Amino acid sequence: MTRAISLHDVSKTYTKGVRVVDRLSLDIAPGEFLVLLGPSGCGKSTVLRMIAGLEEITEGQLLLDGEYGNDLPPSGRDMAMVFQNFALYPNMTSRDNIGFPLRIESPGADPRHRVNATARMLGIEDLLERFPSQLSGGERQRVAMGRAIARHPSAFLMDEPLSNLDAKLRNHLRAEIAKLTRELGVTTVYVTHDQAEAMSLGDRVAVLRGGVLQQVGTPRAVYALPRNVFVAAFIGTPRINLLRGLVRAPLDGAMTISLGKQFLRLPEPLSLDHQLLRVQQGREVIVGLRSEAVRISPRFSASREQGGLASPSWARPGEVEITGLVEHMEFQGHEVLVHFDTGSRPAVVPDLEAARPSRRPVRRRRREGTVLERLREKAGTLRAGPVVVMDHPADTGPDPDTALSPDGRLPGDLVVRTTPDIRLRYGMQVPLLVDLAHLFVFDQHGERICPAPDHLPDLEE
Ligand SMILES: Nc1ncnc2c1ncn2[C@@H]1O[C@H](COP(=O)(O)OP(=O)(O)O)[C@@H](O)[C@H]1O
Ligand SMILES: [Mg+2]
Repeated sequence: MTRAISLHDVSKTYTKGVRVVDRLSLDIAPGEFLVLLGPSGCGKSTVLRMIAGLEEITEGQLLLDGEYGNDLPPSGRDMAMVFQNFALYPNMTSRDNIGFPLRIESPGADPRHRVNATARMLGIEDLLERFPSQLSGGERQRVAMGRAIARHPSAFLMDEPLSNLDAKLRNHLRAEIAKLTRELGVTTVYVTHDQAEAMSLGDRVAVLRGGVLQQVGTPRAVYALPRNVFVAAFIGTPRINLLRGLVRAPLDGAMTISLGKQFLRLPEPLSLDHQLLRVQQGREVIVGLRSEAVRISPRFSASREQGGLASPSWARPGEVEITGLVEHMEFQGHEVLVHFDTGSRPAVVPDLEAARPSRRPVRRRRREGTVLERLREKAGTLRAGPVVVMDHPADTGPDPDTALSPDGRLPGDLVVRTTPDIRLRYGMQVPLLVDLAHLFVFDQHGERICPAPDHLPDLEE
């Protein structure tokens, strides 16, 4: 049996007046693998614990297979939880750790058969007679998984089960979890703050910010059509480039979005999505460019061979050229991430910046923080409101503590992926082609306005 889990306007309040989960509505289908994704402290574990019955629901309804479930005790919900810290009994062998919940559930029954079958499924038959101290982290987590699976629950609730493992093991176990839950066909709610993990595992991903659901959709949909700038910035590597722009739509001329010293001229005839930007005339917007939307113009290599920049533009239809100054390069083996300075100002998404660890000791943060830190702190309190995008903190003055740009980011405002064979040097001016078919535009509240919110409805659930 696998179950449908529905949350209707579910809220959680620990301290009076503060909703750490704020009117969350979510329908999880039987057999679905749903990932709850969001930065640390956004309420993911709280949601999971409310589903498990370990935390009381302050307001709203939990429906299990369509029936009111708020007051069911955890034992009556037939769900198995897997946590980040493996929580195995240290004085029991793997066999007993896996069999223990079975013995509790039906005393007298012999769990051996189920334990063996589960161990076979997880490839841990050799580990059954060992104690937790004799297991590696990955092995321990497999045993913990085994304990959840052996019960044949109607749902799995997993709270960052892979966070304590090293990267290689994490990737490996991630693939195993995906395969296993698919085979078992059991509804799974999986919590993580790691967007790559969410994207690779989920049938759907629900993005939370400050206790508020931002968007739920297939990994493809949340990547291709993020509802707002927060989702756009949280999902995808390298992170989407977010630049502050100004829409200019003169009655008698081409429509442009200026980006500081340069501008993007929207190709004529205007696409429907671009036409809709007209109403933003004279307004500040946030331009989002994922790495696939920008490439180094082939003109760069061609002109170097010819010893001048006289060659044609090489732009494909829908592409416009800007230039960038090479400020930093990250060599990644199969590719290079080049950080360009294009003379534009990056937009800052408060929660994302606030979620980064501070570079200063904690005791100095409260009262003596820099303007930037106070802004960040303030931004962190903008939990449930719209995604407000602040001025780039560079505007508030330089931060003497860091050699990087003030928000701790690497220099440059536009990151472009390229192949490692391209010969770039610091300080070079490079022609870049921006593909306007891949242009995102967000308004001042961070809501996506291009592509228009109702764009490609087949992609959104
Ligand atoms: N028992 C509790 N009492 C008071 N506040 C809590 C309690 N548990 C969690 N919180 C607060 O609720 C918010 C969400 O926490 P949590 O659900 O653990 O977030 P996440 O799992 O996304 O990191 C945090 O601000 C956290 O400090
Ligand atoms: Mg948590």
